[in-house]
Amino acid sequence: MKQSVKFIVGNWKMHGVSAAVSEALALKEAVDASPMCRIALCPPATLTDRMRAALAGGRVELGGQDCHEKASGAFTGSVSAEMLADAGATLVILGHSERRAAFGETDALVAAKAEAAIAAGLEPIICVGETLEQREAGQAVSVVSAQVEGSLPDGLSERPFAVAYEPVWAIGTGLTPTLEQIAEVHAAVRAAIVKRLGEAARRAPILYGGSVKPDNAAEILTTPEVGGALVGGASLLAEDFLKIIRAA
Ligand code: PGA
Repeated sequence: MKQSVKFIVGNWKMHGVSAAVSEALALKEAVDASPMCRIALCPPATLTDRMRAALAGGRVELGGQDCHEKASGAFTGSVSAEMLADAGATLVILGHSERRAAFGETDALVAAKAEAAIAAGLEPIICVGETLEQREAGQAVSVVSAQVEGSLPDGLSERPFAVAYEPVWAIGTGLTPTLEQIAEVHAAVRAAIVKRLGEAARRAPILYGGSVKPDNAAEILTTPEVGGALVGGASLLAEDFLKIIRAA
């Protein structure tokens, strides 16, 4: 079977002011100099427009880290999908576990945000993942499958989207699941996506996220059903991120 091109996405979280645009520029120059996999950076919303200028004409795509579920309105402090698209984003991370945990985002809210994203022409990357407690209770597959079922809206079928499997206990901790555990959950995520949206959704990439680093990227990225990676800490510096990209 033909290997599809891996999709490597950097999630800067709440890191980066103007000076960080130089990292995006360094990434662009290296990526544009030799063809590599599909790559995107998701900076803080305030940097989107500047990053668009820095990345213009290149292959590195630009995304947001969240959007509001409504198109506009009296929602002080929020950013809509249309605003992200207007600033240069073409994709958006939704339902990251940090938002689910710290901002109480439910599957239904994530699904509503995904609808808003596709209405604005953005490609959603929908995150799912179990906590350590859930894994230890043997619930990883059932929790993640239920999150896929509840977080993917009908409108996603026939549209480009990705799902990211990010075990909560692996994010920012340096811990990663075994390759067998990653393969097991990715197979379950694939089955849940197809059950939810039908066969057409079989081509949507499933990214792995949680402590992906230059030294573990190659083995993770060759695990069955791993279509790419969602990278936090190791995406902040172009030098580290490029090592992961080159492993893909
Ligand atoms: P990490 O974060 O690579 O720093 O573990 C991944 C994520 O939260 O997307």
